[in-house]
Amino acid sequence: MIALARPQYGEENPNAWKPAGPGDLRGPCPMMNTLANHGFIQRDGRNITRETAIAGLNAGLNFAESLATIMFDQALVANPEPNSTFFTLDMLNRHNVLEHDASLSRADSIFASPSNVNTSTANAFNATVFAETTSYWTSDTLTPLMLANSKLARQITSRKENPEYAFSTTTEEFSLGEVAAPIIAFGSLEDGTVSRELVTYFFENERLPEELGWTKKNQSIALTEITGVTTIIRAATNLFTGGAANGTSAHTGAKRSLH
Ligand code: HEM
Ligand code: MG
Repeated sequence: MIALARPQYGEENPNAWKPAGPGDLRGPCPMMNTLANHGFIQRDGRNITRETAIAGLNAGLNFAESLATIMFDQALVANPEPNSTFFTLDMLNRHNVLEHDASLSRADSIFASPSNVNTSTANAFNATVFAETTSYWTSDTLTPLMLANSKLARQITSRKENPEYAFSTTTEEFSLGEVAAPIIAFGSLEDGTVSRELVTYFFENERLPEELGWTKKNQSIALTEITGVTTIIRAATNLFTGGAANGTSAHTGAKRSLH
């Protein structure tokens, strides 16, 4: 009886990483997939409610309840049922609802299948796409300029190759937030830099980079922090030269490290 009471392998840490198994749902967001792989949200990717999103984003990343609430409320539109109270990770795959073209690590949904259906495959990690992205990540420490360059390049590639390429002003706001997201989770909120190793490990494994020494921020992350980093990224996407607005100011340190 004593032997039976001992914890089995993996039970010591309820947030141990485990990839999705058969029947588990995943989607286009590498972080929501990651939080599911760690059990910070449901491992099966189903029934994500306001309560579970708040708890998971807090436990996994130290997001404030106020921020997690905003993100959850924005995401509910992914559920096709009106007035629903949850979403599943594969609902996030619905094209041009939240999911959009020119992602950093996913192919455009038009390339998923000849019939252009919204399959999960379209939104699984794609090594070819991610290789294009990382070709702009030219030093061990990623700067806002490198991250912005990869975002812009993905848009130009999509516009060239995808006859149905769509990217609205709303998409741009989400996209800027997504480019800022790895900095928020793994990098410096002050200057917008982040370790390339941590970010690539995260994208490739959908796993928090704990074995590389990363730990969750002590600082609670609220909307102010998101806005701050997003502003840095927005400035860095400006293609003009000759002013702070192009993201090459000393503030970001971006110019120095790219040249
Ligand atoms: C992408 C949803 C939280 C990081 C996406 C996409 C969706 C989404 C629908 C796909 C957009 C596309 O087509 O590229 C959500 C929801 C969240 C959430 C519903 C919470 C309620 C987070 C958090 C982070 C994060 C907390 C990290 C701090 C990312 C990144 C991408 C992304 C980096 C871009 C992936 C790429 O371009 O390949 N998210 N997300 N997300 N998300 Fe999330
Ligand atoms: Mg996409």
